[in-house]
Amino acid sequence: MKKAFIKSYGCQMNVYDATRMADLLGREGFVETGAVEEADVVVLNTCHIREKAAEKVYSELGRLRVLKGERAEAGLDTTVVVAGCVAQAEGREILGRAPGVDVVVGPQSYHRLPDLLRRARTERVVDTDFPVEEKFDHLPPRRAAGTSAFLTVQEGCDKFCAFCVVPYTRGAEVSRPVAKLLAEADRLVAGGARELTLIGQNVNAYHGEGPDGAVWSLGRLLRHLAGLPGILRLRYTTSHPNDMDDDLIAAHRDCLAVMPYLHLPVQSGSDRILAAMNRRHDADAYRRLIDRVRAARPDIALSSDFIVGFPGETDADHAATLRLVADVGFASAFSFKYSPRPGTPAAESADAVPESVKSARLAELQELLERQRQGFNHATVGRTVDVLLEKPGRHPGQVAGKSPYLQAVQIEAGIETVGTVVPVRITRAGSNSLFGELAGAAPAAAA
Ligand code: SAH
Ligand code: SF4
Ligand code: F3S
Repeated sequence: MKKAFIKSYGCQMNVYDATRMADLLGREGFVETGAVEEADVVVLNTCHIREKAAEKVYSELGRLRVLKGERAEAGLDTTVVVAGCVAQAEGREILGRAPGVDVVVGPQSYHRLPDLLRRARTERVVDTDFPVEEKFDHLPPRRAAGTSAFLTVQEGCDKFCAFCVVPYTRGAEVSRPVAKLLAEADRLVAGGARELTLIGQNVNAYHGEGPDGAVWSLGRLLRHLAGLPGILRLRYTTSHPNDMDDDLIAAHRDCLAVMPYLHLPVQSGSDRILAAMNRRHDADAYRRLIDRVRAARPDIALSSDFIVGFPGETDADHAATLRLVADVGFASAFSFKYSPRPGTPAAESADAVPESVKSARLAELQELLERQRQGFNHATVGRTVDVLLEKPGRHPGQVAGKSPYLQAVQIEAGIETVGTVVPVRITRAGSNSLFGELAGAAPAAAA
């Protein structure tokens, strides 16, 4: 039996792609292994979003080269594949920098992986095409993916924020047709999925061809999915503020299956910096949007992404970001130091912010965001919330799941409860999980 080891870096789309590569390799007779030293094929599904993410890959490739040598001494072949966004961005360069690599394959051509592996027996191969044939049409049907599954509905980005590599690594925005999504959703539900997270680099810009010939928005797609049997919960990520239309906001109000959680990256609270980033909205537009979302779904938990130290960012700009965070109140967030990326407009800017200033601003922002997160979690204590149980918990006798607000929850329950939604009274908030007990009656709020 041939074995494949697949490791994913970066965003949820890479996680999705990794499961699809596993499906493909499964069709070729590979079984997946968690032990890299026994793998005949090693796939690193890489991320190019920040310098650190890309550099991680090269240190991993250094270790793999040693492992490959050791396996060769034992008479075993190892094929090393670099997939994902570093593969797309750097292509053939990777072969020069990392001598152990056999295959470089981009995010839009990985359906050709079986063929590339065959060719790799005699040569080193690079495929970073954006082929006209649809990648998804050449992938095998999905296998069971657990209680909560990702479903790519949209890929690529046309927004070209000044700091971001995604439009270059993933290409132009493409929405998959509704019928294909429904077929994939069916398979996932049949395989035990109860929650679907619709993913896309710009998921709320979704505009796919509907079975009725009309163009469906994300709101319409969510409403349809919410009506299908077996689907208990729907989420979507990642959204751009400018694509939050009324219909999508209303879906949060009208569909119980659409969870009260929204990840809506804002990046900065300074109008000057937002303009320089090419985000195409100002801070007050974001505040007004949040007001509309909260009017539709008052208990919604908000999450965001922030970049500190974008070129030219002053103390006053940073203060504006802190003000926005204080005004909005986030249940969770990701924040990063700006990292100049080759080929992006911002990387050409001369007015870089010193590293020490970036670090200080990041620490200050993260302290505020962490206080908000803890405050949000503590406010859940004493409430009864619905929890989708997903997997065995940290200790025997425990099961782990998620609240509607995407908080991790641990309860005492048998493993047979996995895949069900149960009402849980939250008794305690730890630093990363909530703890609770099964509540007898259903919660009053239909969250
Ligand atoms: N499509 C999403 C973001 C995808 S990238 C959106 O529109 O917001 C995920 C996050 O990484 C971004 O939201 C941003 O906060 C961060 N990021 C992207 N490029 C970056 C860079 N060059 N330096 C630091 N952080 C970056
Ligand atoms: Fe990157 Fe901006 Fe597109 Fe998000 S919207 S993927 S940050 S270019
Ligand atoms: Fe990284 Fe590519 Fe995702 S750059 S964040 S893996 S789209």
